[in-house]
Amino acid sequence: MTTATHAKGLEGVIAGETEICNVEQTSLVYRGYEIADLAANASFEEVAFLLLVGHKPSSDELGAFKAELIAERALPSAVVEFLKTSGNLVNNEYAVPMDILRTAVSILSHLDADCQDNAGDANLRKSKRLLAQIPTVIGHMQNSIEGKDFIAPNANLSHSANLLYMMTGSEPTPEAEKVMDVSLVLYAEHDYNASTFTARVISGTLGDLHGAVTGAIAALKGKLHGGANEAAMEMLADIRNDIGSDNDLGKVTDWMHQAFADKRKLMGFGHRVYKNGDHRAPILHGLGRKAAQARGEDFIKLFELGEMVQKIMEDEKKIYPNVDFPCGMTYFTMGIPVPQYTPIFVASRITGWAAHIMEQHANNRLIRPRVAYIGPAPRNWND
Ligand code: SDX
Repeated sequence: MTTATHAKGLEGVIAGETEICNVEQTSLVYRGYEIADLAANASFEEVAFLLLVGHKPSSDELGAFKAELIAERALPSAVVEFLKTSGNLVNNEYAVPMDILRTAVSILSHLDADCQDNAGDANLRKSKRLLAQIPTVIGHMQNSIEGKDFIAPNANLSHSANLLYMMTGSEPTPEAEKVMDVSLVLYAEHDYNASTFTARVISGTLGDLHGAVTGAIAALKGKLHGGANEAAMEMLADIRNDIGSDNDLGKVTDWMHQAFADKRKLMGFGHRVYKNGDHRAPILHGLGRKAAQARGEDFIKLFELGEMVQKIMEDEKKIYPNVDFPCGMTYFTMGIPVPQYTPIFVASRITGWAAHIMEQHANNRLIRPRVAYIGPAPRNWND
């Protein structure tokens, strides 16, 4: 029996060390760079290099990295064949895009020559491949859901633009590309969040990178974690369904009070670490609102509704939006199908997960905590 105290949900527990990211009430940094600085000045490819390799890329390093990603975008034929079935799976309602993506990453492991090799150079090669391949999985899956032919990756487009292009068949405007790119920068890394911790536990057993990423995708899917960006948008759609689209403050307040009375969790609000607000949320909210302004009245009204919900939560509960709240509204404004919001989170967070898996493998000790036993006292089977 253990006598040590424990924290439910491991709240406040320091469970390891990392050089990758620091989440504080007052700041969020990736390898020393503040998130607002990165969102304003770095591309997603630059941030991905920073996380995976460990330093800001020189222009030669960035050029080579981008070329490597572009070269790795195509998928092995077994994965393409599987994705041809993904439309049926999703339309049968048993599977959702996060499940399809999880399975696709798992199949990719069988076809990766480096799969069983946990050495740093092999892990880096696998990280880059997955980073390049995941948008293609998302694009092909969305094509399949819509019953369309698969759109091949476009080597002239950036990571973000290509992701949007493969989903829709149209090259995005520079504005849409920028919004997607910043959202990927914001989502890339967040220390010991649940999915990253999952990846570290799996890699701590000396499990391989694809296995750890597969587990991390399963963890990210949940609505208390990454699945909240889809759930936040579904919640706003529910509010609109219930009260109509006139954004009547009294009706919004009544809806919220009923949710509080029912003890429902408002999706896209709250955070285990940030108690005064998530540093990423206002950055994405600003960009999303600008995009809504350009798209017209209906989208502006969506943001106005979100802002009402936000104000009521802040005034009455002192609970602030996390990044998933503006993400839901922003991706909706960009015309992205709601079930792809969390897969897109994966397209970014793969960088943070892979960095943590490499850090774990480079300095490993099995992660194996104790648990406080609260079951029956010892007893005899024959009594
Ligand atoms: C992400 O950790 C990360 O880094 C994750 C992430 C990342 O980048 O990887 O930032 C991404 O996962 C963001 C979180 C997305 N999830 C949601 O938006 C789902 C809704 N949020 C909550 O369920 C909740 O706030 C969590 C899960 C995010 C945090 O849960 P905690 O820390 O266990 O907090 P809690 O549930 O114990 O809540 C503490 C109090 C409770 O009130 P009391 O019982 O003490 O009176 O705050 C209330 C809760 O009821 N509360 C909420 C609420 N969040 C907290 N009340 C209503 N709606 C909410 N959203």
